Amino acid sequence: MDLKITVLAGDGIGPEIIKEAKKVLDAVSKKYGHSVIADDGLIGGIAIDETGNPFPKETIDKCQSSQAILLGAVGGPKWDTTDSNKPRPEQGLLGLRKELGLFANLRPVKVHNQLTESSTLKSAVVSDIDMIIVRELTGGIYFGKSARSDALTYDTCEYSSEEIIRIFRIAFDIAMKRRNNLISVDKANVLETSRLWREIGHLLKEEYADVAYQDMLVDNCAMQLIRNPGQFDIIVTENMFGDILSDEASMLTGSIGMLPSASLGEGNIGLYEPIHGSAPDIAGMDKANPMATILSVAMMLRYSFDLEKEVQAIENAVEQVLEQGYRTPDIMQEGKTEVSTSEMGDLVAKEIS
Ligand code: IPM
Ligand code: MG
Repeated sequence: MDLKITVLAGDGIGPEIIKEAKKVLDAVSKKYGHSVIADDGLIGGIAIDETGNPFPKETIDKCQSSQAILLGAVGGPKWDTTDSNKPRPEQGLLGLRKELGLFANLRPVKVHNQLTESSTLKSAVVSDIDMIIVRELTGGIYFGKSARSDALTYDTCEYSSEEIIRIFRIAFDIAMKRRNNLISVDKANVLETSRLWREIGHLLKEEYADVAYQDMLVDNCAMQLIRNPGQFDIIVTENMFGDILSDEASMLTGSIGMLPSASLGEGNIGLYEPIHGSAPDIAGMDKANPMATILSVAMMLRYSFDLEKEVQAIENAVEQVLEQGYRTPDIMQEGKTEVSTSEMGDLVAKEIS
C-alpha cells in the first residue's frame, strides 16, 4: 500500500521527534511491504521565517493532496508576541485544523505499566488510567470573534448545534467500542454554550442507550482527574476545556512526552501530532522524548490507513523498549538506562524490524 503523507516538522524539538517517528514509520512499512511517499512542508515559526506566513498556501496544497499529515510542534520564544498584527506560529496549526475541518481531536491517555512510578501521583491511583479525551477542535473561544481596543478586549466562545452534535456522535461511537462510559464536561452553571452542549448531550444519550452518560463541570473534572482518574473512559468536551484537561491528564501518566493525538474531520485527511509543544528549552539537544510522535504514527496507521497489525507492531515495540529499561530524560528513573532522542528512535525501529 502507498502511504502518501505530508510531514510538517515545525519548530523547537519538532524536527528531532519527527525524524525518529519517520524512522519508525519506515521500519514498519518495510516490514509489512508498504511504501511511504512523504513530502515535507513548512508550518509555524519556521514558515514565518521563510515565507512570512505561518501556514503558507504551498503547505495547504500539499496537505490537501495527501492522505494524512504528521506534525511535530510549533512555536517558540523567537516568535512570541502580544502584538495581534504580527504573525504567530500557532496560527499555522489552528489554520490547518480549521482549513481541513479537523473538528475531532482524540487524545488517548494511558499509563504504560513500566511508567507508573514516573507519575507524580501514587502508582495505585494511576495504574488503571485508560481514557480518551475527545476534544472539539474547530470551534469555541479559539475561533470566535475577538478584538482588542483601548476601551474593551474580548474573545467569544461560539458554538452551533451542528458543531456540538457531530463531536458528541464521535464520542458516543468511540465509547461504544470501549467501556460504554461517556462523561461530558462543560460549565453549564455559567456558560450559555455549555447549556446548549448539555442539552444536546441529553438528547443524544437517548439514541445511545448502551452508553452510561454523565455530565461533569469542568472544575470538578480537573479535580476528579487527580482524585480518581481510573473512573474515566471517554471524556467529551469543548475546545479550550479539552486543551487544558488533556495537559493535566497527560501528567498523570508521568510525562506529556508519551501522549499522541489524532485530529479527524469530515474529509478523509487526518492530522497526527504529539500533544506536547515545541519545548524550545531542549531543542537541538537530542533529549526530547520521541514516543508521543511515534505513537502518533501508530494512530495515523489506524485511523487513516486502517492497518491494525502495523499499529500493534509499533505499540508493542514501544512497550518492549520501555520494558527493556530505556528512558529519555523526561521519564528517567533510577536503575534505568538513559538514552537520547535518536537512540530511542533506533531502539523502537530495531524492535519492529
Ligand atoms: C495543543 C496546543 C495548541 C492548542 C496550541 C499550540 C495552539 O496547546 O494542541 O494542545 O491550544 O490547541
Ligand atoms: Mg495544548
